Amino acid sequence: MSPKNGEELPDWFSPVAQDALRYCRPREGVWVDLGSGSGGLGLALSELSNSLIVLVDPNAEAVGEGLDEARDRGLWPRVVGVIARAESIPLPDSSVDMVVSRGSIFFWDDPPAGLSEVYRVLRPGCRAMIGGGFGSSYPEWALKQFFRRRYEALEAEGEEAVCRWNHPRRPEWLAAQAREAGIGDFDIVGKSGLSAEDPAAGIGRWLLFKKVTA
Ligand SMILES: C[S@@+](CC[C@H](N)C(=O)[O-])C[C@H]1O[C@@H](n2cnc3c(N)ncnc32)[C@H](O)[C@@H]1O
Repeated sequence: MSPKNGEELPDWFSPVAQDALRYCRPREGVWVDLGSGSGGLGLALSELSNSLIVLVDPNAEAVGEGLDEARDRGLWPRVVGVIARAESIPLPDSSVDMVVSRGSIFFWDDPPAGLSEVYRVLRPGCRAMIGGGFGSSYPEWALKQFFRRRYEALEAEGEEAVCRWNHPRRPEWLAAQAREAGIGDFDIVGKSGLSAEDPAAGIGRWLLFKKVTA
């Protein structure tokens, strides 16, 4: 049953986490949620695995909230936080088994530099999923409601706000960032933009790539 307008929408992090596992097929190890904010996606992944989850975000307060939440949910000490930007990830080369990033690349100062860093920290053969969206199993009624609310808010701000929101969610934009980062082999999956009419829209828009084995 769909709730009425204005009610809370269901959690979208679990569906995104399930898609990440499906796309990246990671081995257990060290997984990074890049631009984690308060760690919704990282914590959802932690619920599904024994991996060490590293929340990386420049916003220390948000990361702190994520760590508190991890303790409350019994996930500590398998969730840790690092205050940093995508453009300079303070982790060694080839040390991470999966990088996920939801709703963050659109705000990075230098997306190609951030993607190069993702590639650098990934272990050979391991994958990243970078983009934005809700997850393919997110209920359609909730997706429609999200898009309706977002569209209304952006329209109220004006045409420029609509373009600003849509532009980096286009596949061409993501592909250009990946190419500029020197990532030769990548996929872009899903749909985004201001419509929930396409049944694939719920999956969001994601850039997927794997670090080649040396
Ligand atoms: C819209 S929030 C998304 C947070 C979370 N990933 C989610 O799905 O709810 C965008 C996040 O990107 C972070 N961010 C902004 N610039 C960044 C950068 N250069 N590198 C990494 N994260 C950045 C912000 O601090 C913020 O937490």
